[in-house]
Amino acid sequence: MSNSIWRKKPMAAYEADMKKSELKRVLTKWGLTSLGIGAIIGGGIFTLTGIAAHNHAGPALAIAFVIAAIGCTFASLCYAEFSSILPVEGSAYAYSYGTVGEAFAWLIGWNLILEYMMGATTVAVAWSGYFEKLVHLFGIELPVRLMNDPYTAGEKLGLEGPVPAFNLAAFLITWGVTSVLVKGIQESAKANNAIVIIKLSVVLFVIIAGAFYIKIENWTPFIPPVQVGADGVEHFGWAGVRTAATVVFFAYIGFDAVSTQAGEAINPRKDVPFAIVASLIVCTVLYILVSLVLTGMVKYDTLDLKAPVAAAFADVGLPWAVFIITIAAVAGLTSVMLVMMLGQTRIFLGMAKDGLLPAFFKAIHPEFKTPWKSTILVGFIVSVVSALTPIDKVSEMCSMGTLLAFAMISGAVLLLRYQQPDIERPYKAPLIWFVAPMGVFFNLYLMTQTQAATWRAFLIWSTLGIIVYFIYSRGKSNLNQND
Ligand code: ALA
Repeated sequence: MSNSIWRKKPMAAYEADMKKSELKRVLTKWGLTSLGIGAIIGGGIFTLTGIAAHNHAGPALAIAFVIAAIGCTFASLCYAEFSSILPVEGSAYAYSYGTVGEAFAWLIGWNLILEYMMGATTVAVAWSGYFEKLVHLFGIELPVRLMNDPYTAGEKLGLEGPVPAFNLAAFLITWGVTSVLVKGIQESAKANNAIVIIKLSVVLFVIIAGAFYIKIENWTPFIPPVQVGADGVEHFGWAGVRTAATVVFFAYIGFDAVSTQAGEAINPRKDVPFAIVASLIVCTVLYILVSLVLTGMVKYDTLDLKAPVAAAFADVGLPWAVFIITIAAVAGLTSVMLVMMLGQTRIFLGMAKDGLLPAFFKAIHPEFKTPWKSTILVGFIVSVVSALTPIDKVSEMCSMGTLLAFAMISGAVLLLRYQQPDIERPYKAPLIWFVAPMGVFFNLYLMTQTQAATWRAFLIWSTLGIIVYFIYSRGKSNLNQND
């Protein structure tokens, strides 16, 4: 077997892996779509809308959602084609290992860590914001230093720089979710559907009830004039809209999580592609409507940064609505965390089974039958980072990793059309010569709009990934052992 960094996992190895799988195939196409919606709707719409409108786009938040949706649509069509060729767990990492090659797959897997682990971290911080609102509704005030990271707590207390603080709520919810994941998830497709119905009902409620409180003057000017911040960064104007698109891109993340459920789908080759595209379409329409309603209800510069949707209803004097939204957000965010952390451990499991990560990541608990060691490690990292880092920093890192993975998948699907034109493709992305290059272009373009500090952190992360690959994974790969 080749020692090249482009060596591929043979199709026969995937088939053997699938035969060994003990997962039950129970998910229908609507069950899968519901899982997609369950993973998509969360911190993005309930929290980041506030930051994106308040700091970057103003009422043009809706335009930012449209821009982010375009990149996601191209990527989703490419994801859908890949998932129809290789209906295995491991998502983009697994697809690219079988088709493009090991180093490429490794880099995608490494970046998916940002997507799933940083995604869970962002959602943990968002959860804490909504939890604070929930207990506030019962007249309980929690200490600022126990509900925020050191930077946000400093800002809230009007003090310079970081102060001693620890987001205990984010820390504790992460360990709660981790313990469920270690013990094994009994959550059936039916239970997931119930959570999705609650989330969808509340989002529809926000759109319909909120529409009655829109004040047209709040939308004027729709794109506020450019303001240059103390850091020299442009806020508002078209530059602000583009930055906002990278912020709210996070809200769309999750449609690709459907592909990690391929092992539980009844008809994965047809239904996974359907669910990926369908869940994205539903959420795009809802997001655009919510952002119009939100910025119509409240002047963008007074939007709450931690729980903007609930706060908007409080501002217009609907306390009972605040109660419904807050409970739905807390429940909904918990399920997003669950799916993100679950996805992360499955990707680690896939990488460890292929030899690219240590056996620690594929250690299965004898009783619970879950990858318990890696789940606890993921829980530890997510809990500590979410307790100490501001939400915008972690969400941007999550978006960066995901954008690169989306761009790479779009490129890979086109490459595969060229390399293996005759392979069976139950779903073929339309106009691939347009869709795939646009997927690469749009997602890379959104990356260029991200702030310089995020880029620096991202480049350090990617360099670290390349070093780990050459020092450890390349030599330990199963494909290497077969030489
Ligand atoms: N799209 C998911 C959310 O917004 C990650 O929470």
